[in-house]
Amino acid sequence: MSTSQNWSSSLKFILVAAGSAVGLGNIWKFPQLVAENGGSAFILIYIACILILGIPLLILEFSIGKTSKSNSLDTILHFNKNSFLKHSYLLYIIGAFLLMSFYFIVSGWTLSYFVESITGGISYNPNLENSYYQNVLGSLFSNPKKLILYTLAIILITYYINSKDIQKGIERLNFVLFPVLFLILIILIIKVLTLNNISEGLKFYFYPDFSKVTINTFINALGQTFFSLSLGTGTMIVYSSYLKKEINIIKASIYTSIIGSLVGIFSGLIIIPSLFSFNLPLSGGTGLTFISLPLIFSQIYLGKYLAIIFFFMMLIATITSTISMLETILPYFMKKCNLTRQKSALLISFIVLILSIPNSLSFNVLSNLTLFKLNIFEQVVYLENNILLTLGSLLITIYGIYFIKDTLKAEISNYLSPFIMNLWIFLIKFIIPLIIIVIIIKEIINS
Ligand code: TRP
Repeated sequence: MSTSQNWSSSLKFILVAAGSAVGLGNIWKFPQLVAENGGSAFILIYIACILILGIPLLILEFSIGKTSKSNSLDTILHFNKNSFLKHSYLLYIIGAFLLMSFYFIVSGWTLSYFVESITGGISYNPNLENSYYQNVLGSLFSNPKKLILYTLAIILITYYINSKDIQKGIERLNFVLFPVLFLILIILIIKVLTLNNISEGLKFYFYPDFSKVTINTFINALGQTFFSLSLGTGTMIVYSSYLKKEINIIKASIYTSIIGSLVGIFSGLIIIPSLFSFNLPLSGGTGLTFISLPLIFSQIYLGKYLAIIFFFMMLIATITSTISMLETILPYFMKKCNLTRQKSALLISFIVLILSIPNSLSFNVLSNLTLFKLNIFEQVVYLENNILLTLGSLLITIYGIYFIKDTLKAEISNYLSPFIMNLWIFLIKFIIPLIIIVIIIKEIINS
């Protein structure tokens, strides 16, 4: 199917791409990684990864999407000569489903916290103990029905937006909500900076502690780069297939990366120094956002309202990401099964619902079903984040360099000097594949 729809302007495209990039990865995962990996030492390594891998790969995905004449992944990746790679687009289809099968669940937690924060769960109480919020998350985990219903709500919201055409659905939503997200971040940062005893936390956050850096820090930073820029599942390729000719993809890649990184850094700035201010432990893991943060809100005057806007912001960030995941494979099913946009969105939503059920049950009914000490949910997250996303990026570099290099060069040379373009090709052809292969080998040894 050829693409008859377009994003209406360069700014709107950047907002849509940034909307996909900014999500739970930046708001929920990034602060955890900073806390566990030596404060800003991690931030510095992450920024280096964004520069060396993130931006070049984003340019690659954007240029593949923009120059392709289709928005369906199987026709975009036309590895014609080599029959083995011919079906490799299936990696992206499977990857997208696996990603949605757990990401929508965590988005559901976010929704439930947003609802809780309005209905009074997170109310002002300076003497509250940590265990209260452990119970909020705990009661969600132990109640499969509730977990699945919240996931279903996310699926329905996503379906509703994706079933409209892209300018009326995805584009409008990002255009309206993304500035709101930024505004909320700024309000929360100002609030945090005025808390008592904030200087120690700020020192931790901005003073790099390289003694905490290990090889795993680098692997985490790389994984976070792929995940936080939505690389490796074809999402950015499909999004950029709706680009008009005149749009500068280099600028778009740089802006998208800057916005994504900034949101991560801002979100860490909200969460980490305030832990210090309230003498809470840094080692939060999953609970950093879902247990420690609400506890902090409950001890701040008017914190109830801060909690509402925080979880609303997080909800915006996840919905603008979930719609990008659905969009990744929506045109493929339209074409393959000869469906309308609405019906294709409905079909995918239904499959996601079914796939998310075992993941939801792995917190309760199926919690004993483990392999290598990981439950089903953790297995799926591991497979997706540590293997499929990296393989997906490797595949893209192979496709770009060996199959459509001339088309890409023609597109890129409109915006880059020959020197920078050669540097880009060098990174894509040698450095990035090398790094990816090293990570994959390390993962195999680790497991
Ligand atoms: N980037 C999003 C986040 O940080 C998640 C996301 C959306 C994603 N689309 C993706 C991750 C495609 C990998 C691939 O939360």
